[in-house]
Amino acid sequence: MIIKSAEFLTSAVTKDQFPDADRPEMAMVGRSNVGKSSLINRMLNRRRLARTSATPGKTQTLNFYDINQTFRLVDLPGYGYANVRKSLRSEFGPMIEGYLTDRETLVWVIQLIDIRHPPSALDREVSAYLQSIFYERHVIATTKADKIARGAYARQLQLIRKDLHLEATHPIFLTSADSGYGIEALWEHVEGRLVK
Ligand code: GTP
Ligand code: MG
Repeated sequence: MIIKSAEFLTSAVTKDQFPDADRPEMAMVGRSNVGKSSLINRMLNRRRLARTSATPGKTQTLNFYDINQTFRLVDLPGYGYANVRKSLRSEFGPMIEGYLTDRETLVWVIQLIDIRHPPSALDREVSAYLQSIFYERHVIATTKADKIARGAYARQLQLIRKDLHLEATHPIFLTSADSGYGIEALWEHVEGRLVK
């Protein structure tokens, strides 16, 4: 993917604050701190466009980025950053769920999973929910590939596939926002629906 322009468009909490639904969108979903904002920056070759932090809970609003004046990336707040376990609905939040279930221009939902750890109960719940709504438009991207040895990649992917009950053909990618590993492969998979 050639990034000619990448610009922050707007932050939104409620639906009336979303930009007009006139471009294809790809959203990043995942646990707090899994690396959603970092992956967006790496995919766009921008160091600090999306704000990142070592402390979970950095992204608190839906943040829309315009890419090449053609499509959008949407950075979502993380789930799972709460001391008390809540239901999927309240955990995911009306903000995120409202966007995911009611955005006709949403063509890809990328769910991020840290390659180092087995998916949490909430990761599994969210995955099942997204698979049932988005089917092949739900993609898993494992993050932080730089943190484990390459020799361990296949085994970790297999474990995650099993834990999330992904079919053999369900797309799953290894990525690292630090090294750039896997970014081009992910772009190649998604670009057809984003760029007409
Ligand atoms: P919230 O906005 O809180 O939901 O988090 P997020 O999912 O947007 O995570 P963010 O991108 O802010 O990254 C969280 C931390 O993980 C930061 O300290 C990043 O530097 C680190 N991180 C993200 N991706 C990678 C990666 O691929 N490799 C390594 N080593 N660190 C990463
Ligand atoms: Mg973030």
